Amino acid sequence: MAFISLRQLLDHAAEHDYGVPAFNVNNLEQIQAIMEAAQASRSPVILQASAGARKYAGEAYLRHMVLAAVETHPDIPVVLHQDHGASPAVCIQSIRSGFTSVMMDGSLLEDAKSPAPYEYNVEVTRRVVDMAHAIGVSVEGELGCLGSLETGEAGEEDGVGAQGTLTHDMLLTDPAQAKDFVSRTGVDALAIAIGTSHGAYKFTRQPTGDILAIDRIAAIHAAVPDTHLVMHGSSSVPQEWLAIIREHGGAIKETYGVPVEEIRRGIRHGVRKVNIDTDIRLAMTGAMRQALAKDPGEFDPRKALIAARKAASALCRLRFEAFGCAGQASKIRPISFDRMAEKYRRRELAQLVA
Ligand code: 13P
Repeated sequence: MAFISLRQLLDHAAEHDYGVPAFNVNNLEQIQAIMEAAQASRSPVILQASAGARKYAGEAYLRHMVLAAVETHPDIPVVLHQDHGASPAVCIQSIRSGFTSVMMDGSLLEDAKSPAPYEYNVEVTRRVVDMAHAIGVSVEGELGCLGSLETGEAGEEDGVGAQGTLTHDMLLTDPAQAKDFVSRTGVDALAIAIGTSHGAYKFTRQPTGDILAIDRIAAIHAAVPDTHLVMHGSSSVPQEWLAIIREHGGAIKETYGVPVEEIRRGIRHGVRKVNIDTDIRLAMTGAMRQALAKDPGEFDPRKALIAARKAASALCRLRFEAFGCAGQASKIRPISFDRMAEKYRRRELAQLVA
């Protein structure tokens, strides 16, 4: 198998009604954990790296670890996706580095903090689509700002996130605007704002429809049926991991995530890519705290890291299974990037003459 494009994977997911978790990766143990879970459940994989990940691990380390993952698991199709690119330049750099998909997040200006005007978002996203599609690489855009419908705050994660208080309008993607955005940019996937936010502190109570707008997904999907919807901030923040962290000296306040059942409802309404970072971090931190507390004389970090990897892998497997992704790996026949580029060219020509 090998690397495939996001477009190919999500087309397959749409055809067969499933969703694909997109897990953020920063280090060796996370990549191994995700790949082990994918292998065990025979699932295709999206590994995504943010600017924070590239800063932490370094572009070359990330690239080579992901290459090692593909080599170790030849039966598993892998998408290497860049999460939250702040500018066309960042996206092009990632493509050069071997990413098979990029996110141009033009919902914020290049500082990754200030909400951007709509026309700016259209312009930078369209520029990235033109360049990426020419070589068969997929593009995810974002419309609306991620943030809490409870507080109006965006929350910052890894240096990305709007600052200040946002209005309800900014926090919910408008279906009519989504239609315009997709037709003017040609994005393959669209990240939507429905009340989810990055990080552990998403909701102060179990979310209900007023603060987690799952119903809006159906309206957006109806407006852009051929564009794959992406749910960011989709960690479920497992209460059992919070309890383990607290029992072993951690101090995480009361908080709730997006219930897996709500994500499944989102998938039934057209969500195909489900971004998860925090859950892996919580599971790994909990498992490391537990392992270190259990054996205070241990000085080999591998012992705690093995526990962390096992915990992350179990969590990833649950998500692959819950989203209907398990068992799909062998059904995907990789399409070359040249052929993907050809498909895009033909589609554009057809649109031009229509
Ligand atoms: P979580 O913080 O909910 O895991 O979301 C991650 C994400 O959306 C990355 O883009």
